Amino acid sequence: MFSKKFERRIYIAVVVLIFSAALGVSFGAFILWPERRELGYEPVQPIQFSHKLHAGTLQVNCLYCHSGAVSGAHALVPPISTCMNCHAEVQPKDNEGRIRPGMAKLLEHWNNAEPIRWNKVNDLADFVYFEHSRHIAAGLTCQQCHGPVETMDHVRREHGQKMNWCLGCHKQPPTNNLKTADPTLTTRAPINCSTCHR
Ligand code: HEC
Ligand code: HEC
Ligand code: HEC
Ligand code: HEC
Ligand code: HEC
Repeated sequence: MFSKKFERRIYIAVVVLIFSAALGVSFGAFILWPERRELGYEPVQPIQFSHKLHAGTLQVNCLYCHSGAVSGAHALVPPISTCMNCHAEVQPKDNEGRIRPGMAKLLEHWNNAEPIRWNKVNDLADFVYFEHSRHIAAGLTCQQCHGPVETMDHVRREHGQKMNWCLGCHKQPPTNNLKTADPTLTTRAPINCSTCHR
């Protein structure tokens, strides 16, 4: 029906089309994968670090490890040197006197000067502007946005971080602010688009 050369072109075009469709679908699935975006997301971490033990039982203050939350946009996850303030001394062992596996991994990273690649739990879209320090200065607690982290062996995402979640709180009356609210505001926090999209 068609010339050999033309048939070959159709064949290549079809292969390219199928290939790009497959690529598009997998890329879409990757970025939209509900687990990565939604409530309750709880990634497996390279080292099992328990907030229940450290922030619950031992009552280490959140800001000891996440000092960025009061001073800047990012709360930050601590470097290993923060862990070593205690773990240079405290190195829990199992019944047979061997250093427990999680601790052994931590020490291995420390000795090799190799940072731990913690998986992100909360991850806002890049086009959204968010700042921790403003929220802490306004009197909010970590738990209002992250839930009872001090009871969690693995941190999970407590809020979907959709626009409605942010706006739901910002839209509340100014009288709901713990600290004195700006009397010129009609809502607890600004809701104009440029607050979060700049
Ligand atoms: C001893 C240090 C330490 C203390 C104390 C601590 N954290 Fe963490 N936190 C970490 C480390 C390490 C990670 C990264 C590993 C993980 O997600 O479990 C983390 C992760 C988190 C995350 C998830 C980060 C992300 O990727 O979205 C949140 C939220 C968090 N911590 C909140 C808190 C709160 C709230 C407190 C106090 C109740 C607290 N942390 C106390 C060390 C600490
Ligand atoms: C108003 C809600 C809110 C409050 C209050 C809040 N956080 Fe967050 N936190 C977020 C959001 C949203 C993200 C995701 C930010 C991103 O992906 O850019 C986040 C991310 C984090 C992370 C991951 C690292 C980072 O900075 O992105 C840690 C750790 C964390 N928060 C700890 C804390 C601690 C500790 C407190 C209390 C001192 C706190 N947060 C208070 C909403 C909040
Ligand atoms: C304020 C002191 C302190 C800090 C800071 C601290 N830890 Fe710990 N950690 C402890 C204590 C105490 C234990 C429990 C020891 C025991 O069970 O005998 C512990 C236990 C552990 C264990 C072993 C859990 C098990 O039973 O196998 C791991 C892993 C661990 N910590 C990781 C970390 C990491 C990672 C950091 C830094 C992000 C960190 N710790 C920071 C005090 C601390
Ligand atoms: C639980 C309530 C609450 C939630 C949830 C919340 N905010 Fe806020 N936000 C506040 C309060 C209170 C202020 C402080 C207003 C002030 O300083 O007067 C604030 C302030 C801000 C500011 C600074 C506003 C300015 O004047 O420049 C930004 C930006 C912001 N929030 C972004 C976000 C984003 C993005 C989210 C969702 C990911 C979010 N907030 C979720 C309560 C909240
Ligand atoms: C308090 C913070 C905040 C304010 C104010 C805000 N947004 Fe958003 N917006 C967000 C967050 C967070 C997301 C990310 C949602 C996601 O990842 O699904 C978002 C996402 C979006 C998107 C992407 C589509 C979607 O729904 O996911 C659009 C478009 C958008 N916003 C428009 C606006 C417009 C227009 C305004 C003003 C009327 C506005 N936003 C005000 C926080 C805010």
